[in-house]
Parts: sequence; structure tokens; C-alpha cells
Amino acid sequence: MKLCVALDMPTFEANIELARKLKKKDIWLKVGLRSYIRDGKKIVKEIKDINQNFKIFLDLKIYDIPNTMADAAESMANLGIDMFNVHASCGKEAMREVMQRVSNSKKPPIVLAVTALTSFDDEGFRKVYGENLEAKAAQFAKDAYESGLNGVVCSAFESRLIKSNTDENFITLTPGIRLKDSNDDQKRVATVEFAKKEMSDIIVVGRPVYNAKDPLHVVEEIIQRMEK
Ligand code: C5P
Repeated sequence: MKLCVALDMPTFEANIELARKLKKKDIWLKVGLRSYIRDGKKIVKEIKDINQNFKIFLDLKIYDIPNTMADAAESMANLGIDMFNVHASCGKEAMREVMQRVSNSKKPPIVLAVTALTSFDDEGFRKVYGENLEAKAAQFAKDAYESGLNGVVCSAFESRLIKSNTDENFITLTPGIRLKDSNDDQKRVATVEFAKKEMSDIIVVGRPVYNAKDPLHVVEEIIQRMEK
């Protein structure tokens, strides 16, 4: 299991300072909507300049018509990032086009599909999708698998089921990880130990790291708990 730290801080400088603090760690860094809209390519370059071995997950969760998604996927692959994601609800045709386009790039990034956002509880999910969260997330994961994607973004609660419905090597990346109880917007939160038990491949942690007084210490604690 690997750790991915979300660079969701309010400024470019704050994100870069955090990346510098973590530069010795074998981790992924997640560049999300906030940072990418504000800072663009600059943040990708700066992270790789700090440590070439940092892996970058560009978390833009794209959703559009197949041709537009494939064009965007090609542009993302050309940025030199290591992983990006799409919404599985864009459908199999769009996901297949994305994979086909990405396969032509020099170094194809890993492509994941978002199943259900971890901020949804079952009721909130049903209001939007009209279906049971767990069943629909499993269906989205199957669609992504059949479209040739490398894995999914899901909650730790669905990780094991998704693997058993697809393939053990089908990556599950799980946000909503908390070191202890919290009352923020994440509904389906899990601990590091639970995510590991449920076979998550990559855990994403944002606020518990970057809001800490000593982010490096928290990262070290998480890695230690991952390795136990
Ligand atoms: O601060 P926190 O640990 O909740 O950060 C989680 C990160 O993972 C955020 O950047 C959020 O956008 C992202 N994410 C998520 N749920 C998903 C996909 C991504 O929370 N399903």
C-alpha cells in the first residue's frame, strides 16, 4: 500500500512548502482541481524539480463526451504526470476512447475511474443516482475494468468487493482516510488499518496531513501504520 498526500492548500507556495517537507518520502502527491486551476503546469514541474521520484496524481475527475475526454486525456498524458482520473459515470465508450488515446503517449499514465465520491452517504447517493451506493459503485468499477482502465477511486469500504468483482491487480485508491474521528465533509471515513485490511492499494490523505502542525511527522506515522 502507498500513501498519496493531497496538495489541497490555499496557495501554490503552501503546496510547494509541503512537498519540500515531504521530499525524502516515497509517496504520491495529488494535484487537485483547486491547485491545477490556479497553478496549471507550473505545479507539476515544481514537484518533479523537488524530487523526480515523487509520483503525481492529477485528480481532475473529468466527465464529458468521449471525444472531448480523449483530447483532455492526451493533454494530461503529455504533462508528464503519473496518474489521472475520470468519472466512471461518463460511460464505457468514453473510457475506452480515453484508454486508446493514452496508449499512444510516450509514457502512458495510470488511469482510474471515480465510482462514488466519498462525501456521499447512501441517502445522498441515492438522490443523485437513484440506486444503492455499494451496488452502483461495484457496477461502475466493472465498467471501468471492462473498458481497460487500471483501477478506481472508491471508499475503503468498497475496495475488497471491487477487487473480487474485477481483478486483484485492479487498483483501488481510497480517499476519506482519517487517523482518528473527525466531523468534516467526508462521510465514509476509514482508518489506515481498515484500508489496508480491505486491500486498498493507495490511500489519499489531505487535511489530516496538511492541517497538522508537523505534516512530516503525520506522514511518518501513517507510513508506520501502513507497514505494521
Ligand atoms: O482532506 P481529505 O483527506 O478529505 O482529502 C481527500 C482528497 O481526496 C480531496 O482532495 C478530495 O477531493 C479527494 N477525493 C475524495 N473522494 C473521492 C475522490 C477524491 O475525497 N471519491
